[in-house]
Amino acid sequence: MELIPVIEKRGASGKAFTPHPRAGGNLGPLTQTFRKPHEAPACVGSRPRRKGLSLLLSGLCKPRKPFQETAVKSEQNSPESVDAIPHADPIAIFESWFAQAQQSEPNDPNAMALATATPDGLPSVRMVLLKGHGPDGFVFYTNFHSRKGVELVANRHVALLFHWKSLRRQIRIEGPIAEVSAMEADAYFASRHPESRLGSAASDQSRPLPDRQTYLDRVDALRTQYPDGDVPRPPHWSGYRVTPTAIEFWQDRDYRLHERRRFVADGAGGWTSSLLYP
Ligand SMILES: Cc1cc2nc3c(=O)[nH]c(=O)nc-3n(C[C@H](O)[C@H](O)[C@H](O)COP(=O)(O)O)c2cc1C
Repeated sequence: MELIPVIEKRGASGKAFTPHPRAGGNLGPLTQTFRKPHEAPACVGSRPRRKGLSLLLSGLCKPRKPFQETAVKSEQNSPESVDAIPHADPIAIFESWFAQAQQSEPNDPNAMALATATPDGLPSVRMVLLKGHGPDGFVFYTNFHSRKGVELVANRHVALLFHWKSLRRQIRIEGPIAEVSAMEADAYFASRHPESRLGSAASDQSRPLPDRQTYLDRVDALRTQYPDGDVPRPPHWSGYRVTPTAIEFWQDRDYRLHERRRFVADGAGGWTSSLLYP
């Protein structure tokens, strides 16, 4: 006979009740017991309940299906044979995968997580946009006064992560950063939409903001000053280029038999690579 897991909590009175998993807060010590279906709580429909409460409890009261690996096999998986990630130039593989992501991702295929850390090793991570890539490295732009900017002054090493759900792939990149030239940053800043230029020039990124209107007023003030939106690039707004010292490609495969290949720079302009267990 199938047993139904029931999560119980003892209330202040000592009486057992069943909290909803999404109820939030500290649920206190939980116990999971198993009951036969006919012993399931009244939520199986033996007596009327308030509608909201019934909805709340319905997730708990449905008999659970036996464990099934339903989400691991996908017909969308890459058809390539085993060892789909070639042992080749990792920059070329990146370019190929990125080009495919540009075709398949619904938006922002150039979005990547950027991990930084304080000198003490306290990590932080956020999304940024890749704005340049090639053999020289991977470029993103930001406000150097931001949290990441401050962390990058003290610790020049970062990690990047792309995850393309449409392709079921991820790419991890590690390496030190170097500031792009003022000319390169000026050219990129000038290529942005005028409103975006005003927005970044007006932003004290990562600093406390009393209310949104304060920020919008600063944008308006700059728009008055530069009616065509041609605000100059603030000196603290620029780009960093990540020189990759390691690049790892990950490809989803059926039943989680995923593929990984990690490339490590050999210090002489080449790469060594090896497969990794998933
Ligand atoms: C998809 C996406 C792209 C983003 N691109 C950038 C970017 O290119 N540069 C940037 O400074 N912030 C970007 N942001 C905002 C950052 O995630 C973050 O909120 C901001 O840079 C402040 O981070 P920090 O306080 O850790 O410095 C982006 C956010 C998202 C969700």
